[in-house]
Amino acid sequence: MNCDSSVNMTLAVVGATGLVGSTILKVLEEHHIIPYTLFAAASEKSVGKLLDFDNKNIPVISIQDAVNLKPDYAIFSAGKEVSLKYIPEFYAAGTTVIDNSSAWRMNNNVPLVVPEINFNSIGNKTIIANPNCSTIQVVMAVFNLHRRYKVTRLVISTYQSVSGSGMKGINQLRDERNNIPPTCCAYPHRIDMNVIPHGGNFLDDGYTEEEHKLVNETRKILDDNSIAITSTVVRVPVTGGHSAAINVEFENNFDIDEVFDILNNTEGVTLLDDPTHNVYPMPSISEGKDDVFVGRIRRDFSRDNSLNMWVTADNLRKGAATNAVQILEKLLSTHHHAIL
Ligand code: A2P
Repeated sequence: MNCDSSVNMTLAVVGATGLVGSTILKVLEEHHIIPYTLFAAASEKSVGKLLDFDNKNIPVISIQDAVNLKPDYAIFSAGKEVSLKYIPEFYAAGTTVIDNSSAWRMNNNVPLVVPEINFNSIGNKTIIANPNCSTIQVVMAVFNLHRRYKVTRLVISTYQSVSGSGMKGINQLRDERNNIPPTCCAYPHRIDMNVIPHGGNFLDDGYTEEEHKLVNETRKILDDNSIAITSTVVRVPVTGGHSAAINVEFENNFDIDEVFDILNNTEGVTLLDDPTHNVYPMPSISEGKDDVFVGRIRRDFSRDNSLNMWVTADNLRKGAATNAVQILEKLLSTHHHAIL
């Protein structure tokens, strides 16, 4: 790998014109990961459009053209259907793919990775899944507590930003705020001045796809199927990040001061917990930041070995783009994936 201005590898960002895709370009610049060549791919309607990266104009190309260029790496953020269709083609071309969609997350042969927690699960696999945005912030808040006290149950309630629905969500909120009839609707109801208890499609058991993701992905990342998990996903008229109220039950009793110490020493977590001075995490604080913010930590007096916490994160960053770029960064620094 070069140590000067560019990294000696080629990278395709698929979905580069989207909210997550454009954040990926920004995070790559911030992390000084400037590929030798960057291919920006999106739908046919965006082909030829110019995107700004590393002070250059990068033309948008089609996904098929990106496949034909056989990049060393690809980061996908163009939705599940695009991932299902094109990732096998990149795989066959020898590209290592990091996928932001839910397409491959629960596949037993595909590692589901938060680098601070389970980077080693990648081994020599070349399709790597980035978890759901809410799942990432939940596991970041609990994984070190799980290692110390063993989590037995999680009750998770999310308060999710409209940016999690891509441009459609942002546009619907913006149009409603400006009293413009929305051109296209991300949600089945008004989102401004409202709260919608509905994320993803409803399934036969009464839960939504997003609620299932929180349960299944958390267990996979923590490598523990015995954890009882239940969740409620709620969309709120917020743009800066997702929030989650988490009730955590442990097998073992805990010392609340030690809980604060553990979170204070968790890489990628910022503890904001000073209620007497009105200090606690909020999406307005997380917006534009890579860390996961944790606060409102207090013992749950209604149950043994339990506590409550409040967690926020920028869903476009640690919940998506930053996590994917951190995976790439770590792959580049390992011998197995290093491009020499
Ligand atoms: P485009 O901008 O050309 O539509 P967001 O979730 O923020 O709306 O972004 C979705 C991203 O995925 C965009 O870059 C979008 O490209 C891309 N995308 C969506 N559908 C397709 C598709 N069928 N083929 C290729 N790219 C797609």
